[in-house]
Amino acid sequence: MDTDFFEKLAARPDALAFREAEREGVRRVLSRLAPLAGARVVEVGCGNGRLTVPLAEAVSEGGASGRVWALDPCGGMCGKCREAVGAAGVASAVCVEEASAEGSRAPEGVWDLAVFFRVWPHLADAEAAVERARRWLVPGGRLVVANLQGSAELDAMHARCGAGGVSHRMPTAGELASWLEERGWRVEEAREAADDYWVAARGREG
Ligand SMILES: C[S@@+](CC[C@H](N)C(=O)[O-])C[C@H]1O[C@@H](n2cnc3c(N)ncnc32)[C@H](O)[C@@H]1O
Repeated sequence: MDTDFFEKLAARPDALAFREAEREGVRRVLSRLAPLAGARVVEVGCGNGRLTVPLAEAVSEGGASGRVWALDPCGGMCGKCREAVGAAGVASAVCVEEASAEGSRAPEGVWDLAVFFRVWPHLADAEAAVERARRWLVPGGRLVVANLQGSAELDAMHARCGAGGVSHRMPTAGELASWLEERGWRVEEAREAADDYWVAARGREG
């Protein structure tokens, strides 16, 4: 992908800062992902590590030896993510890879959870990314696609601010659920509201 838009964003001190109203959404995402202690998690499109840090804290809770493989094709974002996990003291639980989901070298068959947080419309090839996620996961592992806005709100925001790096519109949660089912996933939950988007699925063998 053309990483220009996100490279410029990564260089800004306020890069992808969460607004106060969004913090509650992030807490909600983390609570839906729980329990995470000891879990092995791939985070797709980690950006500057805003979710990576609490994910790493959660997988390490109580001395558990969980891991986060955080990947992003934007080198500037990966640098910020490494700084963030270092500053939070959780670097030993995190591997940051400069790669797209489609091109990642994350080991296959060993991850419990693959999280696509606020990245779906940026995926150049969602089909390839989800196929890659299927190979990352252990049998029955969980795939989650989450945003802090509904699909219409997210698309409108992208249109309004002329955001770069957007490859396609955000499908509704129902559309994404059907799309995943057609590809052999068992969808456990699909919901959205103006400030929420959550689709969770498992491989059929789970
Ligand atoms: C809107 S930002 C969100 C970052 C982070 N998830 C957050 O919420 O702070 C989208 C991120 O997805 C990354 N990205 C774009 N295309 C990607 C792809 N094909 N695979 C993985 N990440 C991608 C971008 O570089 C960018 O850092």
